[in-house]
Amino acid sequence: MKIFFYDAHDFERKAFDAANSKQGLTIEWCSHRLTPQSAVLARGFEVACLFVEDRADAEALKILKEGGVRLIALRSAGFNHVDLKAARELGLRVVRVPEYSPYAVAEHAASLLMALNRKIPRAVARVKDLNFSLEGLVGRDLHGQTVGVVGTGRIGRAFARIMLGFGCKVIAYDQQVSIELEAMGVTYCSLRDLIAASDVLSLHIPLTPETWHLIDAKAFAAMKPGALLVNTGRGALVESVALIETLKSGRIGGAALDVYEEEEGIFFHDLSGKGLKDDVLARILSFPNVIVTSHQAFLTLEALSAIAEVTLSNVAAFARGERSGNEVEVS
Ligand code: NAI
Repeated sequence: MKIFFYDAHDFERKAFDAANSKQGLTIEWCSHRLTPQSAVLARGFEVACLFVEDRADAEALKILKEGGVRLIALRSAGFNHVDLKAARELGLRVVRVPEYSPYAVAEHAASLLMALNRKIPRAVARVKDLNFSLEGLVGRDLHGQTVGVVGTGRIGRAFARIMLGFGCKVIAYDQQVSIELEAMGVTYCSLRDLIAASDVLSLHIPLTPETWHLIDAKAFAAMKPGALLVNTGRGALVESVALIETLKSGRIGGAALDVYEEEEGIFFHDLSGKGLKDDVLARILSFPNVIVTSHQAFLTLEALSAIAEVTLSNVAAFARGERSGNEVEVS
């Protein structure tokens, strides 16, 4: 079975080579993202393997199908970048990696929080410059602080456990209560109460029409003065312009972000020689109490290895004429 990889990155290659030593599939690597223009590149391949920035719209899917593609194998959990209706009409099947490592994302959220709270990026840059002054580097003990976890699915639960280990009081909001977390002393409350009570607010909820701009100007106004916001969920959970206004007013203590609502075409790319065209992101980056990483929360060896194993076993199951269980239901 021949697989055409769109938007292939060097960081994932080793994990896929290792996983493929068991499967023996033919892989063609391509750094171009899937668009209607690049869809023709997969001509002659039965599988198109996509990452989060590929856009599988109806036009691109039609060209893939005409070129012989029968399966769309996503190397991600999310599938909001695939036009599922078009895929169904074209008879294309879609598989994904429903979960890889919740620990990777939860630990990155905790790292961002620690780095923001203790001003680690500023401190490191300062010491490299032989400036050993401590002025402006005062943080707070996390021990005893109230951490609000929005979304207690796989990642939110892993994050809550880490915070409990730090001696924090953990409160949570989710449409489904986790008995495991409750038994560990986590209390559930409404989003409104959680926002008002949290010293740290961490977002682990999926992006849906209901959760879009969940943290808007009203929510920022209800946050505790000096509170810290951590977002490793999806960029559009936070209204960026409202974040800028809040940071300008000095109301919250800072923000640590791994995602940004307009990250497509920016995150994952080296723009160091080109500059930034996105004025909103440029403004966000200008605040000393903001740290941003480029959607890297998933990026651990363990997570990459799990993504590779599951992606290729999904394809191998398809090749054997079986359903893998990781098929995206096309309603
Ligand atoms: P999950 O599906 O295990 O948990 C999601 C939780 O959100 C569930 O408990 C669900 O009940 C709750 N939920 C969903 N909609 C809700 C609503 N409207 N109101 C209240 N609760 C709601 O998902 P998981 O694996 O924990 O991932 C969470 C999110 O993390 C993903 O959706 C994704 O956006 C993000 N993520 C970010 C990564 C990164 O690299 N930055 C990597 C992987 C995931």
